[in-house]
Amino acid sequence: MTYRHIEATPISGALGALITGADLSQLNDDVFQDIHQAFLDYQVIFFRDQDITPEQQINFARRFGEIHHHPYMKGMDEYPDILEILKEPGDSYTFGAAWHSDQMFNPSPAKATMLYAKETPAVGGDTMFSSMYKAYDGLSDAMREMLKTVKTFNVGDRFKNMGGGARSERYAGNPTMANKVRDPGNLITESHHPLFRTHPETGRKALYIGSHTQGLEGMRSEEADPIVDYLRTHSIRPEYLCRFQWKPGSLALWDNRCVQHYAVPDYNERRRMHRITIAGDVPV
Ligand code: SIN
Repeated sequence: MTYRHIEATPISGALGALITGADLSQLNDDVFQDIHQAFLDYQVIFFRDQDITPEQQINFARRFGEIHHHPYMKGMDEYPDILEILKEPGDSYTFGAAWHSDQMFNPSPAKATMLYAKETPAVGGDTMFSSMYKAYDGLSDAMREMLKTVKTFNVGDRFKNMGGGARSERYAGNPTMANKVRDPGNLITESHHPLFRTHPETGRKALYIGSHTQGLEGMRSEEADPIVDYLRTHSIRPEYLCRFQWKPGSLALWDNRCVQHYAVPDYNERRRMHRITIAGDVPV
């Protein structure tokens, strides 16, 4: 793909590109248009050596849409739009260390997520991404036919495949993140979504499943569980993946409508990231 104002260098055969030629601290509309197109083309895009303030990160995010506040997690006191993800040496729990698409429990799940690295381990702490377009395309015709109208049931807490514990219990090995957990109150945190969704901007079909998914509508759990397990395993085949190694000043922006991600918990150093989530539409 070529663009007028930026360059995009793919980082794997499946998805992901490193963008050069853009300074996110002073973005104009022309450069933004290219960035937006690269985001749709590559599903996840990465920038290096960006020096941006929280206000500049928020302004960049707002160009993609309204900012979404996590119903279970408190944002920063000074910047409620930003969730600071922090892991300290000795912490055993890593936020995001399960394959997922953000906010799948929401009737209108997050469109995109922007993660900006403030402090990173010397090695480790990468984030992995999976192309759910590729995962959909890689299913057999018979499987696609059988499941074409099926909906998933998704929850925001007490995931079956993660032991069923509440967030605050699960996060016990990371007191900083456990202290950010809040009660979602009357916000809706359970949702049904099409198993195969159509991307509203590209028109492409994607498999839509992740760790929030607990079952398939209309099926008994003994029928649905093996299918969900199979689809989860299928969706992270190595040929559908890319992996990003962080450095301070790196920024990633991924499209939750066609990407799952996984924070790799393989380090024991301080890692501090600023995350903003952008609101999305009802999946169809
Ligand atoms: C997340 O799931 O949003 C966290 C990703 C990461 O920290 O790498």
